[in-house]
Amino acid sequence: MAKQTVILLLLPFLLAATIRTDGPGDPWKAPPQADQLKDPLAGDPKAMRRGEKVFTALCWTCHGMRGQGDGPNASELRVAPSDLGAPVVQAQTNGALYWKITHGRGEMAAYEQVLASEERWAVVHYLRILAHP
Ligand code: HEC
Repeated sequence: MAKQTVILLLLPFLLAATIRTDGPGDPWKAPPQADQLKDPLAGDPKAMRRGEKVFTALCWTCHGMRGQGDGPNASELRVAPSDLGAPVVQAQTNGALYWKITHGRGEMAAYEQVLASEERWAVVHYLRILAHP
């Protein structure tokens, strides 16, 4: 087979490989199994206050005090921090949000080593009060 033919045959695969990556700016989807995670704080009235402490210590600098993506560090980032009260975020399950906070992506850090598991669930409860239309 001629070299040119080989390159032509490979081209679609090479292109697909560059386009397919889940990079900054692409919609960020948690894996479906994250939806099945059991929230240990479900129905716990204290979870929200606990989460508020985490949020106002660690998250607001990028996401803003009301979670709208307008924190003081937001303009330094290449990817805009999500508006956490927006319907696209609020429509996700607690498990999916917990998974994202745990694993992070790009400039959004992974909080697995930073926050105890319950702290990560608690902050998800706090995110629910940031919801807006
Ligand atoms: C250094 C800035 C920064 C800090 C601090 C930060 N985030 Fe983020 N966060 C981001 C950015 C940027 C994104 C968007 C990431 C992407 O789409 O690649 C994001 C995305 C998210 C998402 C996903 C929302 C969606 O679109 O589905 C959640 C949930 C989230 N952050 C929660 C938190 C919580 C909770 C904290 C504190 C524990 C926190 N973040 C701290 C920058 C930050």
